[in-house]
Amino acid sequence: MSLVLRASHIAKQYGRTPVLNNISMSFEEKGIYVLMGDNGSGKSTFLRICALLEDPDGGSANYEVNGTLLPRDINLRRRISLVLPGVGAFNTSVHQNVLYGLKLRGIKGNDASRKAARAIDFVGLDHKKEQNALTLSSGETQRLGLARALAIEPEVLFLDEPAAFVDARNREIIEEIIRNLAGDSRRTVIMTTHNRRQAQRLSNRLFFLENGNLRPA
Ligand SMILES: Nc1ncnc2c1ncn2[C@@H]1O[C@H](COP(=O)(O)OP(=O)(O)OP(=O)(O)O)[C@@H](O)[C@H]1O
Ligand SMILES: [Mg+2]
Repeated sequence: MSLVLRASHIAKQYGRTPVLNNISMSFEEKGIYVLMGDNGSGKSTFLRICALLEDPDGGSANYEVNGTLLPRDINLRRRISLVLPGVGAFNTSVHQNVLYGLKLRGIKGNDASRKAARAIDFVGLDHKKEQNALTLSSGETQRLGLARALAIEPEVLFLDEPAAFVDARNREIIEEIIRNLAGDSRRTVIMTTHNRRQAQRLSNRLFFLENGNLRPA
């Protein structure tokens, strides 16, 4: 029962400035899709619309299972997640930060603790789990953002510049995390980056957003 995103004729403008111009694309395969494009080309806007966090002016982001369109309700929203770079961590431990998203989804107790611990371990922050999240380095904060998303096991995961502002070692760690995330055969990862080499290392499904349109790289 695999969740498929179909972007259909998506158009968006802010004021009089068109940003996205009739983008249609289906994300039918599991694995990693990478969007590249200049600053301001509309990548983050496209991700927000596809993650159902913002409405387009025209067209729609639809999710299907076996060809059946799903309603855009809370159940669907729980199956998708968007991670932004340097997401605001809460003023509490790393562990509590990861638990929070699970609590929001009604997962509590031992089940939540186990999922949180697994996600924290997955991103290599096990030794930091009791540390206040606000004191993490930026590379670690980015990994915490991934752990928070991972804990809730989204089937479609959007990562907006997941390895921006980090050093080479953290970049490698984050790339490995993304590879592992996408290795789960039930998951589609859709990410943006400005680093073409990183894009090529992670995926052969590479696209450019240019003049409001998406084209294969
Ligand atoms: N809420 C908003 N109100 C007005 N303009 C916006 C809004 N959101 C985005 N924009 C504009 O839309 C354009 C596309 O922005 P977006 O953040 O999607 O680009 P991007 O490709 O992600 O850029 P970057 O590589 O710098 O992250 C930019 O010119 C931006 O200023
Ligand atoms: Mg952006």
